[in-house]
Amino acid sequence: MKEKVAALIQEIENATIDNHDALEAFRIKYISRKSVVAELFGNLKDVAPEERKGMGQLLNELKNMANDKFKNLSSQMEQTTTKVAHSPVDLTLPPVPNSLGTRHPLNLVRGRIIEIFERIGFNVSEGPEIEDDWHNFSALNFPENHPAREMQDTFFIEKVADTGREIALRTHTSSVQVRVMEGEKPPIRTLSPGRVFRNEAISARAHCVFHQVEGLYINKNVSFADLKQTLYHFVKEMFSKDTKIRFRPSFFPFTEPSAEIDISCQICNGAGCNICKYSGWVEIGGSGMVDPQVLINCNIDPEEYTGFAFGMGIERITMLKYQIKDLRLFTENDIRFLQQFSVIS
Ligand code: PHE
Repeated sequence: MKEKVAALIQEIENATIDNHDALEAFRIKYISRKSVVAELFGNLKDVAPEERKGMGQLLNELKNMANDKFKNLSSQMEQTTTKVAHSPVDLTLPPVPNSLGTRHPLNLVRGRIIEIFERIGFNVSEGPEIEDDWHNFSALNFPENHPAREMQDTFFIEKVADTGREIALRTHTSSVQVRVMEGEKPPIRTLSPGRVFRNEAISARAHCVFHQVEGLYINKNVSFADLKQTLYHFVKEMFSKDTKIRFRPSFFPFTEPSAEIDISCQICNGAGCNICKYSGWVEIGGSGMVDPQVLINCNIDPEEYTGFAFGMGIERITMLKYQIKDLRLFTENDIRFLQQFSVIS
C-alpha cells in the first residue's frame, strides 16, 4: 500500500492539464468519492492495526496534496481561459494593413515640374489669388478697356471706389512674375505655380479653376534660343527623350515675339489620334520674349536686360502624362481615380 501511495504522490505532482476535460478527469481520479484516494481509505480497514494510524496519516497527506494540486490546476485553468476571453487583442491575427493616402496627380506633376526647373537654377515664387488689375493686366501690357482682357474671361470681384481699379481672381500666374520683377533685381529665374480662374463652362476639356506654372528668366543677353533650349530640356525630362517640341507663332500682350508650345502627341507618338485631332501635336502652353514695355512697367531697364517667359497648364501636362481624358476627374475626388497615382517617373 505504501508503494501505491508513493506512486500516486509522484503521479499527482507531475500532473499537468491544458483543458477543462483534463481538469475534470483529474478531479474524478484523485478527488471524487470514487477516486483512487477514496478507494485507499476504504482499504484502511484491512491494514494491520499497528500500522493503521501511520497509514491513515499518510493517506490524509495524500488527500490534502491532491486537493491542493486540484486548486492549483483549476486556478491555472481559470487564468488562461479568462486571458483568452477578455484579451482585447488577438495577437495571433494577421495585422490590419495601414492604408496610406496617395498624393493628388496634379500635386505630383507640379512637384516634378518644380524639380526639373530647380535643377537648372529656377526658384519658386507665389502670389495672391485675388489680384488687382495692375498685376494681372496693366503691368503686362493689356491696354485699358482692350478686348484682350476679355480674352481671359475674367471673374471680376469689385471696383475699388477711389482708384477705380478692378479687383479680380487672377487669370494667370503671370501676375506673380510682375510682383517678382517689381521686388527683385535681375538676374531673375523664377517659377510660379498656382491656381488660376477663368469664367468658362466646365467640360471634359475646360474648367473655371485650374493650375498653371509660369516661368520667367531675366538677365543680360537672354535670347529666344535660351527659351527654346529651356523648354526643350523640360519636355524631354517631363515626358521622354523622344518627345518632339515645336513653336507656333502666336500673340500675347506681354511677350514679343510670342509662340505657342506644342509637343508630339504622347498618346499616338505623332501618328495622329483623336486626342491630337489627327495632327500629331498637342499644345501645352504659351511663351515668348518679355515685351520691353513690361520690363519698363516693372522698373527693369530693357536696354540692359532681356528675358523670356512661358506658361503651361498643369492639368494639360498631367492629362498627357497619364492619358487622362476628362479634366473633371481632378476635382471629383473619386478615390478609385486618386489611388492610381503614387509615384512619378
Ligand atoms: N499667361 C499666359 C496665359 O495664361 C501664358 C503665357 C505666359 C504666355 C508667359 C507667354 C508667356 O495664357
